[in-house]
Amino acid sequence: MKNKILLLIALFFFVNVHAQKFENLALTPPMGWNSWNTFQTNINEDLVKQTADAIVSSGMKAAGYEYIVLDDGWMEMERDSAGNLVPDRKKFPHGMKVLIDYVHSKGLKFGLYNCAGTKTCAGYPGTRGYEYQDARFYANLGIDYLKFDWCSSDGLNAKESYTTMSKALKKAGRPIVFSLCEWGQNKPWEWAENVGELWRTTGDITAKFDGYLDHGSWKQTGVMPIADLQKGLRKYAGPGHWNDPDMLEVGNGMSTNEDRAHFSLWCMLAAPLIAGNDVRKMSETTKDILTNKEVIAVDQDKAGIEGFLYKTIDSVEIYVKPLSENNWAICFLNRSAETKNINFNWQNEVINDTIFNRSLDTKKVNYQLRDLWKKVNVGDTKKPLKKQIESHNVLMLKVSGR
Ligand code: GLA
Repeated sequence: MKNKILLLIALFFFVNVHAQKFENLALTPPMGWNSWNTFQTNINEDLVKQTADAIVSSGMKAAGYEYIVLDDGWMEMERDSAGNLVPDRKKFPHGMKVLIDYVHSKGLKFGLYNCAGTKTCAGYPGTRGYEYQDARFYANLGIDYLKFDWCSSDGLNAKESYTTMSKALKKAGRPIVFSLCEWGQNKPWEWAENVGELWRTTGDITAKFDGYLDHGSWKQTGVMPIADLQKGLRKYAGPGHWNDPDMLEVGNGMSTNEDRAHFSLWCMLAAPLIAGNDVRKMSETTKDILTNKEVIAVDQDKAGIEGFLYKTIDSVEIYVKPLSENNWAICFLNRSAETKNINFNWQNEVINDTIFNRSLDTKKVNYQLRDLWKKVNVGDTKKPLKKQIESHNVLMLKVSGR
């Protein structure tokens, strides 16, 4: 009897710990669009409506992009007398609800931004002390996604702050994807699996391939250094809980090769794919990169395994990602400034993923190869792979075991 009671108590605690967040909200990495990278706080109703329209008409929705997220700058500078957040009346003259209904009517979902601290990074009211009230506000508005930042958070404990907001969202009762944005400062990968669906691993991205943008007191990080910083983190990611190397900069000024490499890498890393360009005015090239369904399928593979850097040969970085059904993706990325020739003899390689217990062994299986950017089959793993890769370009292959 005593044992049974102890078992029941243990079960109660287990269920409660694991019932902390909504289940099954992001079984594959979330896909969508966010206003920050292009518009900062210059956002408004028309932009959101036109963006929703463009996401549908460009084929992005059909390719899987789902969430339209308004980042910092959507609020008035003060809460109202009841302590509620107030959407900016000039930017959103018809109110936020009407806009959210519009986005929903397009078959898309809607997200907002706030901050765990007392103020957002752009100085708008933060959520500290208002977690339950704000969560009810969001649930009543009908949002589906909340990005939660970490400015003005001096003295706060990250795990506690994010856990409080997660509980508040759960209590408010509407399933809302919870995106933690504390820049990887407190190792969220170690504690956020049951707190949210994704967590930023680094500081802010910038549309630069292999460098930083220095602002003096802080710096933004380019694509390749962000990818370098993902090392060691893949074991923490999986269906429902993802490492987030920040939003996409595709279409924001890098070269076509660099945009393609950036997008490929994010897919190899099972990263959330949150476009950050002006989708109303994007070029055909940008659109083609963002909507390549075969590349997106690597990101969205249901096994949910984050890829890793297997090895580097003469500045060509070779990323691999186990996929479901004994398939793999492999991405050869030329990080150097010159064109490189690769000669990759599959028969000499045994690619082991010791964390997720997978192995790509061409002595046991003759894998079929498909070039995911050119969309053509390119042979099998019996013959060495010989290709030329331009500077900052990729060769991304699906490697099929059957
Ligand atoms: C931080 C975040 C960015 C963006 C801005 C908004 O820098 O990391 O992604 O949300 O705040 O002010």
